[in-house]
Amino acid sequence: MNFNSKLPNVGTTIFTIMSALANEHKAINLSQGFPNYPSSQKLNDLVTKAMNTGYNQYAPMAGNLDLRLAIAHKYELLYKSSYHPEKEITVTAGATQAIYTIISAFVKPNDEVIIFKPAYDCYQPAIELNGGKTIPVQLSAPNYSVNWDEVASKISPKTKMIIINSPHNPSGTIWSKDDMLQLQKITENTNIIVLSDEVYEHIVFDDAQHQSACLFSDLKQRSFITASFGKTFHNTGWKIGYCCAPEALMSEFRKVHQFNVFSVHHPSQKGIADYMQDAETYLGLNTFFQRKRDLFLNLISESRFKFQPSQGTYFQVLDYSEITDEYDVDFAKRLTKEFKIASIPLSVFNEKDKDDKVLRFCFAKTDETLLKAAEVLKHI
Ligand SMILES: Cc1ncc(COP(=O)(O)O)c(C=O)c1O
Repeated sequence: MNFNSKLPNVGTTIFTIMSALANEHKAINLSQGFPNYPSSQKLNDLVTKAMNTGYNQYAPMAGNLDLRLAIAHKYELLYKSSYHPEKEITVTAGATQAIYTIISAFVKPNDEVIIFKPAYDCYQPAIELNGGKTIPVQLSAPNYSVNWDEVASKISPKTKMIIINSPHNPSGTIWSKDDMLQLQKITENTNIIVLSDEVYEHIVFDDAQHQSACLFSDLKQRSFITASFGKTFHNTGWKIGYCCAPEALMSEFRKVHQFNVFSVHHPSQKGIADYMQDAETYLGLNTFFQRKRDLFLNLISESRFKFQPSQGTYFQVLDYSEITDEYDVDFAKRLTKEFKIASIPLSVFNEKDKDDKVLRFCFAKTDETLLKAAEVLKHI
């Protein structure tokens, strides 16, 4: 059969490659971004209870109402920001579906979408499948700071959307209030939509504050915020997330959402809604992951890897330039095969495979796994 691929440049992702290599070589796998410890028993029990008490048919298209109320309450509590549970919040099959649906609902052929690289890998294919053009802004290790004049220079009459992500996967950096104000300033009086990917909003370290797009009034009016319960409640396999946005944007979103997924797993939504009644379930995440970050970094402090402590997410970037000048993909593969530890090379998220000699390690792992991993890294 002859057909022209709509995504001719998309192959197997680095996550699949590194995890397969880790399995083959029985390596400690700090490559993929998910926990290797169980999801909370209380939450599991609440989902089971939801199944046993009748939450087994389609949820409303926008999501279980208890969950939307719990999400709205969270925005009031954390940011004093209101989202109407009926009109401005939609539950999705993970943040990935929210992101894909937002892009599909708005990006038309030849529209431009600005993204910051290194970028999470689902943005660009979604833009291109919808005929849009990705306009990259390349950031650099170790700070990944944004030159806002450069961003402003890339805005054109064709700019439909800007996608941002703080806390940032893969670099583990966060945006400051000033960054958000700059973004607000350059989008003011435009029709640019902002997609603010905030899946790591509850994982911010050293008493820093997460700068949600909803905290900035003009930005909020043009923004979708996407979020992931998988990241927050240690169960990435459940694929439950959500997005919120002002009513006019959300009603466009729902035009697509109702036909590409309609509604998502109902008992999980009800279980999460009940679990979230205790705000500590998400507010405790900063401390939980900061302890893991510190454990990992203390253990490798004598190694030849250099680092700036992660500011957010559950990823730590390590600079290996004192060890070798190998290309990062080659070095990551060699570490997996020879030293039995798997990581993710950052060049794959960059423009033209820019190689800053850094690897990403996931510390959402048991202490035992982190101890074993550090023991290996100390001897490289
Ligand atoms: C930055 C970022 N956005 C979105 C997602 C996708 O989240 P979900 O698993 O809820 O689809 C991830 C998952 O790794 C991520 O790191």
